[in-house]
Amino acid sequence: MLIDGHGRKVSYLRVSVTERCNFRCQYCMPEKPFSWVPKENLLSFEELFLFIKVGIDEGINKIRITGGEPLLRADLDKFIKMISDYRDDLDLALTTNGYLLKPIAKKLKDAGLKRLNISLDTLRPEVAQKISQKDVFSKVMEGIKEAQKVGLGVKLNSVPLKGINDDEIIDLLEFAKSNGMGIRYIEYMENKFAKDKLQGLNAQEVQDIISTKYSFKPVGRVESSPAHLFELEDGYRFGIIDPHKHDFCEDCNRIRLTAEGMLIPCLYFDEAMSIKDSVQKGDIKGATEVLKEVLRNKPEKNKWSSDDENETSQRAFYETGG
Ligand code: 5AD
Ligand code: SF4
Repeated sequence: MLIDGHGRKVSYLRVSVTERCNFRCQYCMPEKPFSWVPKENLLSFEELFLFIKVGIDEGINKIRITGGEPLLRADLDKFIKMISDYRDDLDLALTTNGYLLKPIAKKLKDAGLKRLNISLDTLRPEVAQKISQKDVFSKVMEGIKEAQKVGLGVKLNSVPLKGINDDEIIDLLEFAKSNGMGIRYIEYMENKFAKDKLQGLNAQEVQDIISTKYSFKPVGRVESSPAHLFELEDGYRFGIIDPHKHDFCEDCNRIRLTAEGMLIPCLYFDEAMSIKDSVQKGDIKGATEVLKEVLRNKPEKNKWSSDDENETSQRAFYETGG
């Protein structure tokens, strides 16, 4: 079992397989052209897998593959299969923007993937184009449909933005509900890569909008998940993630690995250690030591609401998959 320096049990590893993305979401990516980390700096699937095995052997039982956009990495289904063959009772999930999903959904399912989170901020093609700066809507919808068809569990992630998609909160809820999917609204997290003047709705504003049509009650959080859940009268549950609070830090169970091999104890701080040397040498003991050191230094809570921007991370979400 992995225990961090604040006595929390850590059992959840998020693995970003690439920082690259085929979208340029306003809340995530800079508008100007910029250069990606060169491909040769990325760890291979074999190298990432070596660390994942160390994590699993030490007590990791939930793994989420993220990006950037993870489906940009060729043969992702083979990577999923390596992991699920090692431990088939893992909670193995993937976060994607859905654009490249349709042709690979069945392969991912067959490889052992269980669940998918798909970003969907709008049901209007022109708004999708505005947010992601690309004509993405129909492909994303096809991806969502196919994932459901092949039997993958699907949850939608939505970031409500003032003046952009804040009139679609209820439509998105109804779309998710009527198609047998979960939905979670994520408060926009300010960051230096996002478009200036973007303004998110806070958790209360999202609730206020939903309450104009539905009655619901708070039902708390599922252990170690940052989402606060709410239940409609018919039993359907939706979630809201409010990173500006840090009540979920108390039972935080997660660490993150980037595609370049940086092990990150908390999304909100720059601190990280590299496992690259260890995995490239096949040094399991060394990788285990880095893992334990990172856990010893895992911060107690995020400082997202801090006014001092030097205190929070300057790292982009597209490196860590949020
Ligand atoms: N604020 C809130 N959510 C974000 N995401 C990406 N950037 C931000 C941000 N600045 C979310 C996307 C996606 C998930 C991977 O992270 O909606 O669903
Ligand atoms: Fe890509 Fe996701 Fe960032 Fe959008 S939010 S640009 S889909 S990584």
